[in-house]
Amino acid sequence: MSQTLNHYLLNVGEHDKTRLSILSDIYNSGSRAFIERSTSHAPTHILDIGCGHGQMTQWLAKQFPQAQVTGIDVSTEQLDMSRANCTMPNVSFVQHDFTQGVLKHTAVDLVYIRYVLLHVKNWQTFFDNLLQSIAPDAKILIEEPGFPFFCYPSNEQLEKANRLGCQLTRQLGLNYDCIEPLWHKVTHCERFKINQVNFTQPLLKSPEEKSILWRSFIQIAQPLIALGFASEEEVNAILAELVNIANDQHSIVGSLRLIQLNLSALPLSSAAQHE
Ligand SMILES: C[S@@+](CC[C@H](N)C(=O)[O-])C[C@H]1O[C@@H](n2cnc3c(N)ncnc32)[C@H](O)[C@@H]1O
Repeated sequence: MSQTLNHYLLNVGEHDKTRLSILSDIYNSGSRAFIERSTSHAPTHILDIGCGHGQMTQWLAKQFPQAQVTGIDVSTEQLDMSRANCTMPNVSFVQHDFTQGVLKHTAVDLVYIRYVLLHVKNWQTFFDNLLQSIAPDAKILIEEPGFPFFCYPSNEQLEKANRLGCQLTRQLGLNYDCIEPLWHKVTHCERFKINQVNFTQPLLKSPEEKSILWRSFIQIAQPLIALGFASEEEVNAILAELVNIANDQHSIVGSLRLIQLNLSALPLSSAAQHE
């Protein structure tokens, strides 16, 4: 239990290229529809926070060509991938961690965050810094997941993988099952107005889409062993079964459910009036 682990458990850069690309194929159409129905006015400055490899940053820049779009990530490797992938002229990429400080971009009127908060320990600091970095009435669109993955026919090894993932991340002070705490956060913070809320949960159909199960689990295999949550044999048995599920044409698999939150930031003075 002595190993020190970075709070971002997953691979970055080239080492997570395939998984992030498959995830984008699975979720992007739903994310695009969510953003389209949530933006009645054309934004002028957009932040894509935790942009990863920049797939959604690039789409935001195409969708809103009059806007300046900034992809933010804490990881330089991820930003290198984003820069290599991005061809739009109205995009820039900046390294920043909202748990560490404010970003001076006060004209930001649209913020997009997908699959990021599950990797963030201190949401209070993250949101405090974010709210100081954007226009007082900016729109904030968030898509974050809740566990578990599921499949039919149900599978004990997949259930074990879900349990281990939650145990490991809780031990590290994170919450991969973040829908309930996120809902609690936005309903108990006077700085947010909830405009709309929705869930989405795409079905994983092809072996490639279903490979998300083992591609995600393999990245937490070493930490699980190192921290004593599972033996190497247990981890290998789970991985073998997740590969079987991916290749079994009779299994249907659900990706992680996402909550889609359409929020407006409230200025401090308005927030006080709402109390
Ligand atoms: C799973 S990826 C999601 C990428 C992208 N949003 C998407 O949906 O394809 C999570 C990203 O969040 C970044 N990240 C994690 N913690 C962060 C923080 N505190 N500030 C900025 N980025 C962070 C990671 O480096 C990683 O690139």
